[in-house]
Amino acid sequence: MNTPAENTAFPPDLLRDVAKRRTFAIISHPDAGKTTLTEKLLLFGGAIQMAGTVKARKSSRHATSDWMEVEKQRGISVTSSVMQFEYAGQTINLLDTPGHEDFSEDTYRVLTAVDAAVMVIDAAKGVEAQTIKLLEVCRLRNTPIITFVNKMDREVREPIELLEEIESVLKIDCAPVTWPIGMGKAFRGVLHLLTNRVMRFTPGEERRTDDSELIDGLDNPRLDELFPDEVKHLRDNVELVRGASPPLDLARFLAGTQSPVFFGSGINNFGVQEILQALVDWAPPPQPREATIGKTAVEGNRMVQAPEASFTGFVFKIQANMDPRHRDRIAFMRVCSGRYSPGMKVHHVRDGREMKLGNAITFMANERVASEDAVAGDIIGIHNHGQLQIGDTLTEGEELRFKGIPYFAPELFNLARPRDPFKAKQLQKGLKELGEEGAVQVFDAGTGNLLLGAVGPLQFEIVAHRLQSEYKVDAVYDNANLYAARWLTFPDENTRRRFENQEAARMARDIDDNPVYLAPNRVNLQLVIERWPDVGFHSIREHGQVMAHAKG
Ligand code: G4P
Repeated sequence: MNTPAENTAFPPDLLRDVAKRRTFAIISHPDAGKTTLTEKLLLFGGAIQMAGTVKARKSSRHATSDWMEVEKQRGISVTSSVMQFEYAGQTINLLDTPGHEDFSEDTYRVLTAVDAAVMVIDAAKGVEAQTIKLLEVCRLRNTPIITFVNKMDREVREPIELLEEIESVLKIDCAPVTWPIGMGKAFRGVLHLLTNRVMRFTPGEERRTDDSELIDGLDNPRLDELFPDEVKHLRDNVELVRGASPPLDLARFLAGTQSPVFFGSGINNFGVQEILQALVDWAPPPQPREATIGKTAVEGNRMVQAPEASFTGFVFKIQANMDPRHRDRIAFMRVCSGRYSPGMKVHHVRDGREMKLGNAITFMANERVASEDAVAGDIIGIHNHGQLQIGDTLTEGEELRFKGIPYFAPELFNLARPRDPFKAKQLQKGLKELGEEGAVQVFDAGTGNLLLGAVGPLQFEIVAHRLQSEYKVDAVYDNANLYAARWLTFPDENTRRRFENQEAARMARDIDDNPVYLAPNRVNLQLVIERWPDVGFHSIREHGQVMAHAKG
């Protein structure tokens, strides 16, 4: 691998600032407590003053924008944003992810922009479906995971059983850092297994100062004094756990194979500070990122190091109408190296043009402000009028593209046509823009109708709603009776031409003009794959290129 930049000295100011960044997301199944934990992290981080802010936003966000009516009706969170705050001398970037499974595509892409994740598990429910999917995505990049087992103030499952489930279902080793003392009404607190300190739990109390107590040795009679009813169970469990789980190994955590586990209760502020501290102490600073170099994306790879002097970044999300007063679209860019400064000129690699980054924004907990300065790990918002798409790379001139920003093959398909034929243009414009945002995937099958592809059915509802409220198009949606879409790669021109001739009826183009095969059923897909052994059929595509593997 060609890594020229590794040999050059990095600017000291960038080395210093990058080392202070921690960029992470919280992943969980809906209702496990992600919003609550987000809020408490912001509270402990001093970014908000009062509990209730994020919660309130979770419900009042709907009021700020029409199309989120859908969200209100469903009572779920479909948007995601970024919150930056300072804690213990570090700059923390918390990327929010939409909770509902229909928005997993969006969530997956957010996960490409973080260096670590906090996984929230509901201690009564254990590992749930959405957690499994999200962890699979984290695994694609070996993202380090910190686990928070939440809701210990309820009657929950045995902690040992929960750890076993995490290990067997999620295939990640657990290294418990705190261990719960009791549960439900008898939840007394946790024993910190690394420091041997006991933290006592008082429901509802905002534990902001360290009132923990050092307990030297499990046989210390002080434990009997503090927890007469729970101490036996605690001793048995801790001995078992210490015997069974390997100790925390930071190298394995950073490699994504072992997760430090904390027990607590987000709503009661318990265990939150420990999560923040773990992020600061253990989570990695902005990591190097692999990019392809050259215009054709086949010339080679290089790792872009976070403290390199030259600015680079990629767009992982586009969001419309964040603020109805602006009616704008914001491209969320993760800075990967160098430094953003207001007004800087950058190279838009995909379209080869120069772009001025005039007034990028930084997202604080409660507001968005003009960005003055951003380095690797930070997220800036760029006002976007269609020139930026998900996956686009910006540089200071270098021809490189960041890898790993995926599109997933849709599993649900609808054909869209305007109820009023004179609105065809508006429909096309609306769908093109929604497609660029990643709200839905849009394919042109050459039949005059546009084909919409989604991962979850709610995506269609949102698109219909937004087409009506933002583009004033009333559209009719018909089930397209398709089983799957696969992106295609061809070994040579000749094969491409033959394939496109023979399979013309099943061909379409995606929004970037990539060829796609539309299979009406499973058997058809299998047959076509067998018939064309040299052709690649891909269920994941990266921006600007089809991934070389993921066949079938
Ligand atoms: P989400 O973002 O992952 O979907 O979860 P959220 O934080 O909204 O939490 C889901 C529910 O779980 C909320 O209850 C919340 O109050 C509750 N919860 C979160 N953490 C804890 C905890 O540590 N202990 C207990 N007992 N409950 C917790 P809700 O009734 O749905 O909402 P609300 O009326 O409390 O806002």
